Amino acid sequence: NSPLSGKHLMITAGPTREAIDPVRYLSNHSSGKMGYALAQAALALGAKVTLVSGPVTLSAPRGCQLIKVSSAQQMQDAVMQHVQACDVFIGCAAVADFRVAEQAEQKLKKQQDEDEMILRLVKNPDILASVAALENPPFTLGFAAETQNVADYAKGKLARKRLNMIAANDVSDHKIGFNSEHNALTLFWNGGELALPVNDKLTLAHQLLGVVAQQLEK
Ligand code: PMT
Repeated sequence: NSPLSGKHLMITAGPTREAIDPVRYLSNHSSGKMGYALAQAALALGAKVTLVSGPVTLSAPRGCQLIKVSSAQQMQDAVMQHVQACDVFIGCAAVADFRVAEQAEQKLKKQQDEDEMILRLVKNPDILASVAALENPPFTLGFAAETQNVADYAKGKLARKRLNMIAANDVSDHKIGFNSEHNALTLFWNGGELALPVNDKLTLAHQLLGVVAQQLEK
């Protein structure tokens, strides 16, 4: 019997795109590789998987339900619509914290007399925190991409967002993390921690889901 058989996992992956105008957007370097590896590993472990993905060039692993989105708002809507039925929620997406306050309906034009341009940004909903705040939340696992004070910031997110577990990702090391084939994570949960050293993302995904399965049993 596989450790996750019969469980329904929802995984968010990839970046979000926040439109500035019809041809421009704000985004980040997430490739979706970590989230897609988690989806693949979860399927291999017998889980049912819903993958909510921002724009990436990967193809979804066979057998998962893929929901494609672009902006953080769309990701939030898709997650909230489908998460009620899930046992585990994993927020691996690099969601933009802010979106452009007023999206222009037409392509913005360069103004001849102006050398600078100011974009006003407003906060996006925090998808992971919204899931954790549900009345009957699934087991929630967040990621924390940090460039400094990695463990402290990650533990802060674990507590503040009321998560079951957080995977700290030191993204100051360019050999791992964003858009790399490899990653390294440190897991924190209430009463425990575990370092998963550098490995390919699929191996790490299996290790991570092994720990999630153990915690689910408790
Ligand atoms: O996609 P890859 O190229 O494989 O790279 C993998 C990765 C580096 C993107 C991944 O391992 C990772 O660290 N993902 C989280 C990136 C991130 O946005 O971290 P954060 O510390 O800003 O966010 C904390 C958590 O809150 C994350 O689980 C994030 O999904 C979630 N969040 C953040 C903001 C927001 N508005 N809504 C959210 O749900």
